[in-house]
Amino acid sequence: MNVEESLEQSTSDASLAHALEVSRKIEEKIAVDPSEFRVLTGDRPTGNLHLGHYFGSLKNRVDLQKKGVETWLVIADFQVIADRDGTGPVRERVRSLATDYLAVGLDPEESVIFPHSAITGLNELMLPFLSLVTDSELRRNPTVKAEHEATEGRPLSGLLLTYPVHQAADILFCKANLVPVGKDQLPHLEQARVIADRFDKRYGRPEGHKTPVFPRPQALLSEAVSILGLDGAKMSKSRGNTIDIGMSADETAKRVKKAVTDSERFITYDPENRPEVSNLVLLAALAQERDPRAVAEEIGNGGSGTLKKMVTESINEMFAPIREKRAELVQDMGYIDGIIRNGIERANERADQTLREVLEAMNMVY
Ligand code: TRP
Repeated sequence: MNVEESLEQSTSDASLAHALEVSRKIEEKIAVDPSEFRVLTGDRPTGNLHLGHYFGSLKNRVDLQKKGVETWLVIADFQVIADRDGTGPVRERVRSLATDYLAVGLDPEESVIFPHSAITGLNELMLPFLSLVTDSELRRNPTVKAEHEATEGRPLSGLLLTYPVHQAADILFCKANLVPVGKDQLPHLEQARVIADRFDKRYGRPEGHKTPVFPRPQALLSEAVSILGLDGAKMSKSRGNTIDIGMSADETAKRVKKAVTDSERFITYDPENRPEVSNLVLLAALAQERDPRAVAEEIGNGGSGTLKKMVTESINEMFAPIREKRAELVQDMGYIDGIIRNGIERANERADQTLREVLEAMNMVY
């Protein structure tokens, strides 16, 4: 089974419909009382954030924060070494990721931004959590399988096999009950819920506690906008088919100029039959917050030249304030480092508290 197939298998069934239904109900609850929720989400610091991240998750996170939901952002630096040798320029990438978060509008006062390697109590949760999962369960995890297959023949590392457990620690250390994710991450959320339940069943609760130590975290699936890279393939840094948040307007224009189109002059929005052209139409539409059909209609006979011009202009316009803010932020790395240090401090406080409860429940306080 290849990567796409195994992802599809995990997500095409009833569980996806169910997850979407749950997400809709949660959206309604957020509108009524955002204080019921604590969000944890995050990214691996493996490269620059691009349009796919922006429309797929970042925008959504900013919206949640604006609605008043408490937000924790994990920079998953340990996950970087799950499927590659060495850490690379990880420190710079952690800073760059934090800079992107702030540039898109995540508020450092309202959210806690931290690399999980620095959160001792979080990482210590890994041991009791590992006792609650079986190796066959982990081997069956479709996301682990897909990510392993994507490494093309690399032996499966113990860290890649167990990273859903580490991700459960990311979520549960701060007792987050809501995780905005793409559908590829649904199996991890299921794993985190299983761990939360089993912890309660097997180890119980600290004395006097009426509720389980861990909540059952739910996925918040955003309405699936699935955008492709500029060559029509999956958007990925290594293919050079992305537009990064941190790129200049000129670099953006150059990338879009090279985008793949087709030989038909008249522009339509027809993702099935014209994936590359439709993807460009969709990018312009998303950037302008318009309907892709209306955008295609407007361009019509203008052909791919007009389409590309519009894509470039609308993305540059949308990103202009974000890029301006980013340029300001990179002038003062001391500020970014301060935000990260502050995030680490707050996350450690919370992790120590949770670990204490865990050890009490396990009768391991000496
Ligand atoms: N695995 C996620 C990714 O590859 C990143 C991540 C790490 C994450 N820990 C998390 C996402 C906890 C949500 C919750 O993008």
